[in-house]
Amino acid sequence: MALTFPDPALVLLIGPSGAGKSTFARANFRATQIVSSDALRALVSDDPDDQNASADAFRILALLLNARLKRRLTAVVDATNLRAGNRRRLRSLAARYGVPVVAVVFDLPERAFFDNNAQRPDRRVGDGVIARHVELMRVAVEDVANEGYAAVFFVRR
Ligand code: GTP
Ligand code: MG
Repeated sequence: MALTFPDPALVLLIGPSGAGKSTFARANFRATQIVSSDALRALVSDDPDDQNASADAFRILALLLNARLKRRLTAVVDATNLRAGNRRRLRSLAARYGVPVVAVVFDLPERAFFDNNAQRPDRRVGDGVIARHVELMRVAVEDVANEGYAAVFFVRR
């Protein structure tokens, strides 16, 4: 699957834990283009899953995006991006610099998120977390069409 992204772009990966967002980012973008909420949580707290580190992690994420977009460099947001409010804030950041925003929606069968999570070698989250994400994803998939992206890609497999 060859995807063509505008350059620069702000790329929002949208999907539950286990969707394959980080895998997709690594396959399609350079490491310096990827801004990952898990990596930032790990940097501030030594634990990528420490939700108490989220507020600090997302402040740093916004700083990094600002710095890159100001330079007209592509940035990929490797976070679940499941909430409309979070996506809206990211879009307004890009709008400040006139950088187009592209959404990559991991529109997989719901069991794929649970199966991927169960089979991951790195870290696993509880099924309850995935179930919550799946609920948010149902809404997100519908909302994305009306959020004004320059392009929306659907990852289906
Ligand atoms: P979080 O960081 O928890 O939000 O998850 P993520 O969306 O970043 O998922 P990640 O890329 O870590 O992938 C989760 C698991 O699914 C890993 O074990 C991957 O190897 C597997 N996976 C990712 N992409 C694919 C794919 O295209 N096909 C298959 N079969 N497995 C995949
Ligand atoms: Mg990930």
